[in-house]
Amino acid sequence: MRILSGIQPSGEPHLGNYFGAMRQHVELMAKGEAIYFLADYHSMTSIRDAGERRRYTRELALDYLALGLDPERAILYRQSDLPEVCELAWILTTVTPMGLLERAHSFKDKVAQGLAVNHGLFAYPVLMAADILIYNADIVPVGQDQKQHLEMTRDIAGAFNHAYGREVFKLPDPMILEHVAVVPGTDGRKMSKSYGNTIRMFAPQGEIKKAVMGIVTDSTPVDQPKDVSASLFQLWALFATESERAALFARAKAGGLGYGEVKKDLLARITAHFAPLRERRAQWEQRGHDVEDVLRDGARRAREIARPVLEAARDAAGLGAAKAGA
Ligand code: AMP
Ligand code: TRP
Repeated sequence: MRILSGIQPSGEPHLGNYFGAMRQHVELMAKGEAIYFLADYHSMTSIRDAGERRRYTRELALDYLALGLDPERAILYRQSDLPEVCELAWILTTVTPMGLLERAHSFKDKVAQGLAVNHGLFAYPVLMAADILIYNADIVPVGQDQKQHLEMTRDIAGAFNHAYGREVFKLPDPMILEHVAVVPGTDGRKMSKSYGNTIRMFAPQGEIKKAVMGIVTDSTPVDQPKDVSASLFQLWALFATESERAALFARAKAGGLGYGEVKKDLLARITAHFAPLRERRAQWEQRGHDVEDVLRDGARRAREIARPVLEAARDAAGLGAAKAGA
C-alpha cells in the first residue's frame, strides 16, 4: 500500500496541523510505503518571498523529523526537487475541464474573500492531482478540507485514462483524517494561522505560555458548572487519556473547577508532550547538512517511483520519441 501526502510550508505548524495531519502521517508510516513532501510549489500561490519559502520549507522538514518521521522508512522530499511533477501537471491540465476547477471550494472562497487570485491558485488542484498520480498512490491521508481536491484527482485521472484509452493512472482513495475533529484555536474558532489564534508546537516556551493563558474563556465563577465544549477543555482533552478526560469533564460540569487550573495543567501537558520532540528537533537542527541529505535522498527515491509513471503518461499521450517497436 502506497501512502502519499503533502503539506504546504506556509508558516510554523501549530496544534491544528499536528493533531489534524502531521502526527497521523508519522503514525501511518508503519502501515505501508509512505511518501511525504514539503509542498513548496504549492506555497507559491501565496508566498512571494524566496527566503521565507526556504526557511519555512526547512522548518517543516525539521518538524516532521522531530515528530519521529523515520527517513529510512518513509520518503520525505521537497516538492521542487522533483520538477517532473510540473510536467505531469501540464499534461493533466489539458484534460481537466474548466468547470471542474470553477467548482473548487477553496478557489471560490478566496474569490469571495476578495483576494487577488492568480492562475496558480485556480490550477492548484491539477498540481495536487499530479503530486498524487505520479506515484499511483493508493491512499492519501488529508483533512476534511482537502476532500474535494481528492475527488477532482480521481476525475482528472479518469479523464486522462479515457482520453488516451490507457489505464495509466490508478484512482486513489482519499483517507479523510476525521477521527480528530477540528482543533479549536485560542479564540474558539478553528485554529488557523490566518486567524492568529494558534499555539505553535515548537514556539519558545514563553510564547506557548502566553497563548495558553490567553485562551478565551467566559466569566462563569469557579464554583459554577462549566461548558466542556469550550476550546480550553477541547484543547486540554487532546493531551489527556479517555479516563482523565471523563474525570476532568465531570468536575467541570459539577462546578468548582476554575479555568486557571485547567490552563496551568494544559500548559504542563503541552510542555511534557513536546519536550522529547523538541530535543529530537534540536539534534537534527545541529546536524544541518543531514536534513539536506534526507531531502536529497528522499527526492532520489521518489523519482525512482515517479519516473516510470510519467514515462507511461508521456508515451500514452504521444510525447517524445516513439518507443522502439511502437
Ligand atoms: P493548512 O496549514 O491549513 O494548510 O493545513 C495543513 C493540514 O493541517 C491540513 O491537512 C489541515 O486539514 C490540517 N489542519 C489545519 N488546521 C487544522 C485544525 N485547526 N484542526 C485540524 N486540522 C487542521
Ligand atoms: N493541498 C494540501 C493542503 O493545503 C497540500 C497538498 C498538496 C497535498 N499536494 C498534495 C496533500 C497531495 C495531499 C496530496 O493541505
